[in-house]
Amino acid sequence: MRVLVGGGTGFIGTALTQLLKARGHKVTLVSRQPGPGRITWSELIRSGLPLCDVVINLAGENILNPLRRWNEAFQKEVLTSRLDTTHLLANAITNATHPPQAWILVTGVAYYQPSLTEEYDEDSPGGDFDFFSNLVTKWEAAARLPGESTRQVVVRSGVVLGRGGGAISHMLLPFRLGLGGPIGSGHQFFPWIHIGDLAGILTHALEADHVQGVLNGVAPASTTTNAEFAQALGAALGRPAFIPVPSTVVQAVFGRERATMLLEGQKVVPRRTLATGYQYSFPELGAALKDVVA
Ligand SMILES: NC(=O)c1ccc[n+]([C@@H]2O[C@H](COP(=O)([O-])OP(=O)(O)OC[C@H]3O[C@@H](n4cnc5c(N)ncnc54)[C@H](OP(=O)(O)O)[C@@H]3O)[C@@H](O)[C@H]2O)c1
Repeated sequence: MRVLVGGGTGFIGTALTQLLKARGHKVTLVSRQPGPGRITWSELIRSGLPLCDVVINLAGENILNPLRRWNEAFQKEVLTSRLDTTHLLANAITNATHPPQAWILVTGVAYYQPSLTEEYDEDSPGGDFDFFSNLVTKWEAAARLPGESTRQVVVRSGVVLGRGGGAISHMLLPFRLGLGGPIGSGHQFFPWIHIGDLAGILTHALEADHVQGVLNGVAPASTTTNAEFAQALGAALGRPAFIPVPSTVVQAVFGRERATMLLEGQKVVPRRTLATGYQYSFPELGAALKDVVA
């Protein structure tokens, strides 16, 4: 199939492109920068949707960039980079003479309210309690198409574990030095997925005609707490991991609101993802981390 991927130049997009190509699909990226195998967002606005069978959007300013202060300007970039690109692609699909078969958006499990007791599947309520949950609601609304001619899928992803990017790239150095440990209390849930499985779920969603609606992009054993995650990462590296990172430090680096992404968490299960027949390559944390740090 011909697949158009918005924001496909990043961490998830690179893994996804590799898997799609290996499975014989043809990939074109939409980027802010021109380049081979790419079109730019301005070209998309000017010329409309190129002929394609599936559209995926991964574009978005990196929320957990520790070098950016969590101020109004950055919050606006986080929001508009997601909503504007999603709107552009949804409009281009609506106006296309030959609309694609499927339209897939990756959002996040921040949709569900952090809790130490609740368990969430795809039908659980959420999306209305803080900046990030409101962002997911607006993001998923921006993707909605008026008609039924294109199959619509939303994958709500947990923290993506992979080599050379994502949250884990910031954790590896302290953990390798034996200075790693739980963040804050460590009791908060840490919903995770191996990058190979997120790319796998997206590929499954684009290849299988019966997949529709929301899928949770987390591992089936993703009911891990942050302390358990720290311990497993230490074990994968053969290093102790008992030095906790105090909440106050996390809040000082990321700002109070953004720090909740690390200090609080959700217990999320991929009930619909499993029901659609997706088979995980890395269902267990130990093996997923060993692969990432190898
Ligand atoms: N990584 C995770 O753990 C995780 C978890 C849950 C959800 N997600 C979501 O999945 C998507 C992809 O994540 P990722 O980790 O692959 O992100 P990434 O590596 O930061 O890549 C995202 C891509 O978005 C584009 N982009 C960045 N800032 C932009 C802006 N201001 N305007 C327009 N485009 C912009 C960039 O492409 P160009 O430079 O080519 O334009 C970039 O390569 C994001 O929406 C993210 O929120 C990620």
